[in-house]
Amino acid sequence: MPSTTLTQSLERDDAIAPRPGRRVFVKSFGCQMNVYDSQRMADVAAAEGYEETAQVEDADLVILNTCHIRERASEKIFTELGKLRELKDERAQSGRATTLVVAGCVAQAEGGEIIRRQPAVDLVVGPQSYHRLPDLLRRAENGKARIDTEFPLEDKFLHLPASSPAAIRARGPSAFVTVQEGCDKFCSFCVVPYTRGAEVSRPLSQIVEEIARLVASGVGEVTLIGQNVNAYHGRDAAGRDVDLAGLLAAAAALPGVLRLRYATSHPNDMSDSLIAAHRDIGALAPYLHLPIQSGSDRILAAMNRKHSARDYLDIVARARRARPDIALSSDFIVGFPDESDADFAATLALVREVGYATGYAFKYSPRPGTPAAELDDPVDEAVKTVRLAELLALLEAQRLAFGQSLVGRRLEVLFDKSGRRPGQIVGRSPYMQSVYAEGGADRIGAMCSVEIIRAGANSLTGRIVATSSRETGAKL
Ligand code: SAH
Ligand code: SF4
Ligand code: F3S
Repeated sequence: MPSTTLTQSLERDDAIAPRPGRRVFVKSFGCQMNVYDSQRMADVAAAEGYEETAQVEDADLVILNTCHIRERASEKIFTELGKLRELKDERAQSGRATTLVVAGCVAQAEGGEIIRRQPAVDLVVGPQSYHRLPDLLRRAENGKARIDTEFPLEDKFLHLPASSPAAIRARGPSAFVTVQEGCDKFCSFCVVPYTRGAEVSRPLSQIVEEIARLVASGVGEVTLIGQNVNAYHGRDAAGRDVDLAGLLAAAAALPGVLRLRYATSHPNDMSDSLIAAHRDIGALAPYLHLPIQSGSDRILAAMNRKHSARDYLDIVARARRARPDIALSSDFIVGFPDESDADFAATLALVREVGYATGYAFKYSPRPGTPAAELDDPVDEAVKTVRLAELLALLEAQRLAFGQSLVGRRLEVLFDKSGRRPGQIVGRSPYMQSVYAEGGADRIGAMCSVEIIRAGANSLTGRIVATSSRETGAKL
């Protein structure tokens, strides 16, 4: 159906009966974009009268927000759906209806195939159509259209309801804000350009307003997210182009913004202005997640990454010159088709040269419809397994060494919850590590200067030295 037709019908049929006493359960898989989208779908459901529940058994509406990035991620959904089908049958026996929705990237990629494989699914909705959920749900309940995987003409962000202050508070002092969606890079292994569509940036004022609303309800840390967030090019109120550095500066100027982050970045969009932002914007965390995928130029070319290992190392050097305490992390793919021992050795060498704070490594998973899925691959599965283990061990050693290097240093920690022991609180360091400290619950939502006294395998322990000067009093 052409998008305009559905938009018009949305306007015609927008008087949807509220659903008092009904509950929604949203489960998110995959990346931060999905976490954000799940929250926005919960907001849409809330505007329809659904209360959010963490107990799937209590939910009248169940939304699975899915990820298609690797085969295992994608197949996991069908296992989940099998369990949900049983739950739906059980609830039906006691006279309670359950509406089952599949959203996200598997929904976009597989569409109606999902309903063929699992007929208990009532609705399949792609990432660009979440604002249409109320109308789509009503149609699905009436047995009408059950699939919407269009890339509509209208801007979904203009149609999504704002998060309520109560929902913002319940989600804690650190929030995601999508500023850019989609990807035009077409790395040869990746489904994202197909599941999320072309790159689109939200206008500056829309983003700044959203951040201001979050901060007014106690959020102190905002992570600007996008599949290719550093390709952000939005417009300001005068129609001028604004890049990510400009957006970060505008966000940092808002009173109450204690810390800013952004993810995920592509090396080819690491502009001079963004690197300078790490020097100039105090609120910007000294942390850069910059995936390279492989240290071999031959494999980088086959991946269509359009940069060399040397280009990447130059960016790292420039970022370190701009902000000497900046820490790096990356994603790696091991076992890309035809990866030789020498190619893999180049990846290990690059990891040693950069010295990462943390890193994520995945075994290559051929994805339907991507160019790399067509490539011959003579490399043994067992070889790939050994390579993955070796890379993971190196990254783990670097992660531990990085933690140890922080002992004795003072870090800015944003506390976001109580610890297991009474009197203990937990927060995040600038480098995303969990930090435990003794402190009252009144510190939750505040940024504190913490002296690190111990580095464990999975967290740091510290002593609160002072409440940060950037703290503004917008507490939870
Ligand atoms: N836009 C981000 C990546 C998003 S996907 C970027 O460019 O870095 C997150 C990570 O999943 C990627 O960085 C990559 O390491 C991994 N990944 C993507 N497709 C994959 C595949 N087919 N097999 C294995 N890992 C994959
Ligand atoms: Fe996928 Fe590459 Fe786009 Fe990242 S930049 S989302 S890896 S196609
Ligand atoms: Fe997965 Fe889609 Fe994110 S494929 S990683 S949920 S963009």
